[in-house]
Amino acid sequence: SWTEANIIDDQVDAIRAQIGGKQVVCGLSGGVDSAVAAALVQRAVGDQLTCVFVDHGLLREGEAEQVERDFVAATGVKLKVVDATDQFLAALAGVSDPEQKRKIIGREFIRCFEAAAREIVAEGEAVEFLVQGTLYPDVVESGGGTGTANIKSHHNVGGLPDDLQFALVEPLRTLFKDEVRRVGEQLGLPADMVWRQPFPGPGLGIRIVGAVTADRLDILRRADAIARAELSAAGLDRDIWQCPVVLLADVRSVGVQGDGRTYGHPVVLRPVSSEDAMTADWTRVPYEVLETISTRITNEVREVNRVVLDVTSKPPGTIEWE
Ligand code: XMP
Repeated sequence: SWTEANIIDDQVDAIRAQIGGKQVVCGLSGGVDSAVAAALVQRAVGDQLTCVFVDHGLLREGEAEQVERDFVAATGVKLKVVDATDQFLAALAGVSDPEQKRKIIGREFIRCFEAAAREIVAEGEAVEFLVQGTLYPDVVESGGGTGTANIKSHHNVGGLPDDLQFALVEPLRTLFKDEVRRVGEQLGLPADMVWRQPFPGPGLGIRIVGAVTADRLDILRRADAIARAELSAAGLDRDIWQCPVVLLADVRSVGVQGDGRTYGHPVVLRPVSSEDAMTADWTRVPYEVLETISTRITNEVREVNRVVLDVTSKPPGTIEWE
């Protein structure tokens, strides 16, 4: 019968049988799938696993720490952190086009991951396996194949070069998302990670309308943290599929704060309810929660003088603005 404990035992046995005494790498994104997959493999083969976390500098407040500190503390995983913020910002400089941003972020991500994997190999370890957090719905969608194919990163970009081929370890292949979360809980992973709502691989890079800069990321990160904290405090996390906060960095609007006129930026709240992200409805967040978020953001984030609510369903609007 299906219990989290059975799943874990079965997977640990299967992973040991597959990997034997070989080395294995896993890329962590901050998301639940890669975290649970890594934790299972760690439980099975311990230090034969090296996790790689490419910090692209586009995560939300607290998310890098969640990986580097809390996840490591909970699992004892061996982690290699690549601090690539400057590299990503340089590559993104002056780029406003959403698809262009996605391409650049995906390309830099692969470059960083590849370099880290090469370093691990150069340290003398024969790395033969790569962990992927592929879920059952992904398996069905892609026709059910498995093997040594491309890295399907959370950016959905192309593969690693031919001389860096790995066999895939996919311990979540039979599971749905809610089952993955329960397994994650059972493995003792941080609750914020296990229950994290969907967040795109390109991160805050596609939530800044306009070019991405360190200053703009900082503004968005602070506004986003307030929105998330207040939605959680209001008990709305399970009603809301996700709530992008979007900085309209190329738009300015006039405001009045204190005794002066301001010329700041609007942020958009985009709370949506959904089953699978294919379609979505805008969530009817109670007015008093919206009011608290708006007041706090405009008081605490000096650069933002206007908070607006997106009331568009999908279709016609996508969930993300870019
Ligand atoms: P849209 O905006 O297309 O989003 O309605 C549907 C879901 O996909 C997420 N999303 C992405 N995830 N890379 C990702 O890994 C991306 O480039 C990307 N774009 C959108 C979005 O957050 C939502 O959950």
